[in-house]
Amino acid sequence: MFQTENIKSLQEQSKRFLDPALEESFLIDHIEDLRNCIRFHEHRYYVMNDPLLADAEFDQLYKLLEKIEKKVPSIITSDSPTQRVGVGFTKQFNTAQHLVPMLSLENSYDADDLLDWDRKARELSALNELEYCVEPKFDGASISLIYENDLFVRGTTRGDGIAGEEITLNLKQIKSIPLSAPFSKYGIQQAEIRGEVLMNKKNFQHFNENLIEQNLPPLANPRNAASGSLRIKDASIVAKRNLEAFIYHLAYINADDNEIDINSHAGSLEMLWQLGFRSPVQEMKVVKGIQAVIDFCKTFEEKRDELPYEIDGLVIKVNDFALQEKLGMTTHHPRWAIAYKFKARQATSKLINVEFQVGRTGSVTPVAKIEPVPIGGVTVASISLHNQDFIKEKDIQIGDTLLVERAGDVIPYIVKSFPELRKGSEKEIAFPSVCPICQTPLIKPEEEAVWRCPNDLCDAQVVERMIHFTSKDAMDIRGLGDANIRKFHELGWLKNIPSIYKLPFDSIKQMEGFGAKSVTNLHDAIEKSKQQPLYRLINALGIRYVGETTAKTIAQSVDHLLDLSKMTEEELQQMEDVGVKVANSIHQYFSKQENVATLAELESLGLQLHSIKKQSTGGRLEGKTFLFTGTLNQLKRSQAEEMVEANGGKILSGVSSKLDYLIVGEDAGSKLEKAKKIASIQILDEVGFIKLIS
Ligand code: IVH
Repeated sequence: MFQTENIKSLQEQSKRFLDPALEESFLIDHIEDLRNCIRFHEHRYYVMNDPLLADAEFDQLYKLLEKIEKKVPSIITSDSPTQRVGVGFTKQFNTAQHLVPMLSLENSYDADDLLDWDRKARELSALNELEYCVEPKFDGASISLIYENDLFVRGTTRGDGIAGEEITLNLKQIKSIPLSAPFSKYGIQQAEIRGEVLMNKKNFQHFNENLIEQNLPPLANPRNAASGSLRIKDASIVAKRNLEAFIYHLAYINADDNEIDINSHAGSLEMLWQLGFRSPVQEMKVVKGIQAVIDFCKTFEEKRDELPYEIDGLVIKVNDFALQEKLGMTTHHPRWAIAYKFKARQATSKLINVEFQVGRTGSVTPVAKIEPVPIGGVTVASISLHNQDFIKEKDIQIGDTLLVERAGDVIPYIVKSFPELRKGSEKEIAFPSVCPICQTPLIKPEEEAVWRCPNDLCDAQVVERMIHFTSKDAMDIRGLGDANIRKFHELGWLKNIPSIYKLPFDSIKQMEGFGAKSVTNLHDAIEKSKQQPLYRLINALGIRYVGETTAKTIAQSVDHLLDLSKMTEEELQQMEDVGVKVANSIHQYFSKQENVATLAELESLGLQLHSIKKQSTGGRLEGKTFLFTGTLNQLKRSQAEEMVEANGGKILSGVSSKLDYLIVGEDAGSKLEKAKKIASIQILDEVGFIKLIS
């Protein structure tokens, strides 16, 4: 869609539109050019994961378009980027018929299944060897999109395969789905395309953390989050879910016969990519013969956890369209495609007991102790039951058989219990009425689903607060892990957060298991943490509802952390992303004298309470993308990534043609191999990286 030769001119044009001196009449005359620039940058960001403008510059362009369209509504077009905006409430989703049925796929689980399937396909096509296109099997919610005369006109869920629910307004909130795509360039007037809507792992984790914060039950996996989001009636909520869409199938086209020249599945994915869709062109592989497919499946399964989103297998498709037609389909699925399913990440186990843990905010969480069971390579023995409502909703009793899921690197989750398997010896889960640690009577705030220990000085809360403070995303004090914090607390050395900076190293040296080197490392890590940027300290304090993202906004909005203690709730709400709830929580934190005293003490101990405001543009690595692989010797991975971001660069999550630099540490594996095949990627070792950055 945005051909390479246009990129420079679109970028120059975008920069011209950023000039505040432009006349309104000029803007009205060039409104479609402005829209095109915005579409171009949306595509760079959401499809290519490789933006060419700073966020603030993009916002400026978007606001300009909004302003002009508001003044002259007659020039608004249905595919204007402003028309995504989640205004609209669907009372009821109507049913809409698919142009062609949405079939499902036959499943395979091992090499033998694939060999069988290949043998049949070869027999039917009377060929010795077939060419296959192998691509990820995205684990989300399937969708079908119809484009007519280049415009996105209708989007539906799968439904029963014949008809689905019409969710066009919700799908328009997904920025990787273009509102218009130049199908007519290929002579196509109408097209029905298929794909999958996903919530990536990182967004899913935030989404669940948010639910837990609000005392709502978390979701089992990103698939449920994606399909649930698509059924929300208020499009403005859908817009906030940061959903993504992969398009993997050209199901139907109505075209001028002689203009379209696509004769393979891989070719159709390429065409969809050119049209501006996020099709899996970078992830797919075209191979000859089933053995190459089997090998690819094996290596891909090992890399499954490296992907930023969930996949539950691979899909193998006969590449040639003419052959696909020859092979045809059964009533349920095409004979030319098969799903290769990865090992299940679900298992059943028995609930032995329930323990109650006290968190850093005093919340008392029931934790299920189950008969240990391996799921996807990890043994699961302990799973959070969240709160009483969750236990009630899932109808869980001690002794029950449970279905457990572990989706990727997502924490394990109890999908359901099986009350029908009860023998009569099962017991209801009894909740304690006093804190299991400090025996203070528990309270249950009316609007919450959790019981809390109201004693701020409860040992469990004190310890958990310190564990959070030192954790990787907070102050990142390596060497002071959970076990040491608990040990030093028992010894009376760690009483509160400032005591972390007053540890008696001479006594630690005398302890068994602490060599001179590990004590020096611990000392250095603690000293180094004093220089952590302010946002990390804010995150480390564990103020309710203030996670890493909010901490970053706050750090950008103040000069000194204690400025927050002088602000009213209304003033706090002026900050980006700070709503009533967050403002109230920050205000409560800073109105406690002991918290202000703790912060003053931390400052006197040498911690950084001043904000160093980040420049949003102009860094020397502006627009450049980086990925680290293997073990670095001189820098910590997080430190190196922060150096990139501080210089305007961006960290990517995988190797693709969008990547500029792969920085290779020791024992680098598949990422390095993949990068070697892409000529545009510069491969540097750690020393090369340090040179580049300095
Ligand atoms: S092709 C006619 N390709 O898996 C072929 N499906 O039962 C239609 N899926 O409902 C499907 N990733 O939602 C295809 N790369 C991929 C896919 C994929 C995920 C889903 C799809 C379908 C289910 C198979």
